[in-house]
Amino acid sequence: MSAPHSVIAGGSSGIGLATAKTLLNAGHKVSIAGRNTARLDQAARLLGDQAQAVVMDAADPESVKSAFASIGPFDHLVLAFGSTKGAGPFATVDLAEVRQGFVEKVFPHFATAQAALPFLAPRGSITFVAAVTAHSAMPGTAGIGAANAAVAALVPILAAELKPLRVNGVSPGVIDTPWWDFLSDDVKATVFADFAGKTPVGRVGQADDIAQTIAFLISNGFMSGDVIICDGGLRLGG
Ligand SMILES: NC(=O)c1ccc[n+]([C@@H]2O[C@H](COP(=O)([O-])OP(=O)(O)OC[C@H]3O[C@@H](n4cnc5c(N)ncnc54)[C@H](OP(=O)(O)O)[C@@H]3O)[C@@H](O)[C@H]2O)c1
Repeated sequence: MSAPHSVIAGGSSGIGLATAKTLLNAGHKVSIAGRNTARLDQAARLLGDQAQAVVMDAADPESVKSAFASIGPFDHLVLAFGSTKGAGPFATVDLAEVRQGFVEKVFPHFATAQAALPFLAPRGSITFVAAVTAHSAMPGTAGIGAANAAVAALVPILAAELKPLRVNGVSPGVIDTPWWDFLSDDVKATVFADFAGKTPVGRVGQADDIAQTIAFLISNGFMSGDVIICDGGLRLGG
């Protein structure tokens, strides 16, 4: 049997890159996709010969179409990209930022999954990456939480509609990746220490924590229609 081929949209950094490493170690052929070619090249060098890098802007339907055409048939799709926009107190959060959060996450996840269908093996899988904000009650996350909830809501619907293709999701808690680079190093350290204190396991997550969950959802043929919250217990409050 030939190696399964997994495509990771958002595979040049953070959770997507860690997932690429994990799947390569599990014997998959891996294609990573992202917008920035320098970032993609750097990730591809790190991953080695078994990985191919493809330029794709998930927010641009033409770019998505040509990326999938160049990749060809594959087995598993991981959607590991998103947006940093839309956080802030409900009373004052900038509506343009909230809208941008939906534009950068919800529509590209929807459109990329749709465009992948002709190339996906019927018994393959799609794994969406949402966020714990979709499932918890953290003040200040109404905008970003609603966008991630929209992504999580796709999971059971698509699992029922696209069967036997399996469709799942992962909702990470706070994970130490370049997603947080909008903060200075000092502020980031303080924010992470604060989140670690609120998290029952006593630390923020690493990209590998989420990669392992994604690899589980891909490899377990009895998982479909589920969103796993992988947050060290952050959603429980503290
Ligand atoms: N880190 C966290 O604490 C955390 C928590 C909860 C949920 N999440 C979610 O996890 C996902 C991955 O986050 P991460 O922490 O791994 O972030 P990251 O390190 O910033 O990685 C994001 C990846 O997505 C790519 N990307 C972004 N927009 C894209 C687009 N339009 N088309 C194609 N690729 C695109 C980026 O490459 P280019 O910029 O070059 O395109 C990069 O490879 C996101 O959906 C995020 O919302 C993260």
